[in-house]
Amino acid sequence: MTHSGRVAIVTGAARGLGRAIAQRLARDGAAVSAWDLNEEGVRETARLITAAGGQAIALTCNSAKADEIARGIAETHTKLGSVGILVNNAALSPFMKFQDITEQVLDDLFAVNFKGPFLCCQAVLPDMLEAGWGRIVNISSSSAQTGSARQTHYAATKAAVIGFTKSLAMELAETGITVNNVPPGFVNTEGLQESPVDVEGFAPRTPMKRAGRPENIAAAVAFLASDDADYITGHTLSVNGGRYLN
Ligand SMILES: NC(=O)c1ccc[n+]([C@@H]2O[C@H](COP(=O)([O-])OP(=O)(O)OC[C@H]3O[C@@H](n4cnc5c(N)ncnc54)[C@H](O)[C@@H]3O)[C@@H](O)[C@H]2O)c1
Repeated sequence: MTHSGRVAIVTGAARGLGRAIAQRLARDGAAVSAWDLNEEGVRETARLITAAGGQAIALTCNSAKADEIARGIAETHTKLGSVGILVNNAALSPFMKFQDITEQVLDDLFAVNFKGPFLCCQAVLPDMLEAGWGRIVNISSSSAQTGSARQTHYAATKAAVIGFTKSLAMELAETGITVNNVPPGFVNTEGLQESPVDVEGFAPRTPMKRAGRPENIAAAVAFLASDDADYITGHTLSVNGGRYLN
């Protein structure tokens, strides 16, 4: 299988895209370290993977905090081994009017959506450098490509993720480590259903006339995390049913 022998960390893996990505990487042979703040959800993700014959551990971990990231890496090393694949998926996706966004709200969102992926990349780098092989996939958003009203702060965090991805890809280009990002369009997850987005109304306005499925994002991540993608770095692989063409 494509990811046999690899250890993959997936953040925000308790539900939605993170769960689908964790399941797909495990199905392809990776041993998955599934991280989330939601203990029950992330345990369920690991249970689903092991029930399907895969290998996974669940860690209740805040991927925006350096000390918790260090603990997560240490536990992953002990239980699964050296990390080869990192998928930075955890994020908050709030909607707020621009003038209502306080400094605290802005700081808190950047901490989860941008600082977290940044620190997780730093934390896995020693393993990847030692192996001379690594795959980092950051989940960004089509909101950073198109703009999104009432998401000025969210779209800015995701634009930061894209700029960071390109820059880190260039810095690591000679090391065997690739760094890419996947901006999903509208994908039907609990997160999207909890948002003010009119999922039913959105579908007819999309060229493919449907919202995305979590498996669509997981397939793109699995490709970028594979050996087949070894000459692709700094790339933005849009998965959005034609909503935004780059
Ligand atoms: N669903 C979409 O249409 C869509 C569109 C564009 C981008 N995205 C991006 O895709 C990713 C997943 O989206 P989703 O719809 O599955 O979201 P979701 O809200 O359903 O799931 C996000 C998960 O991240 C976890 N999480 C949040 N903060 C965390 C933290 N500090 N530490 C650990 N875990 C944390 C949550 O507990 C949750 O389980 C996000 O990065 C989101 O911004 C989604």
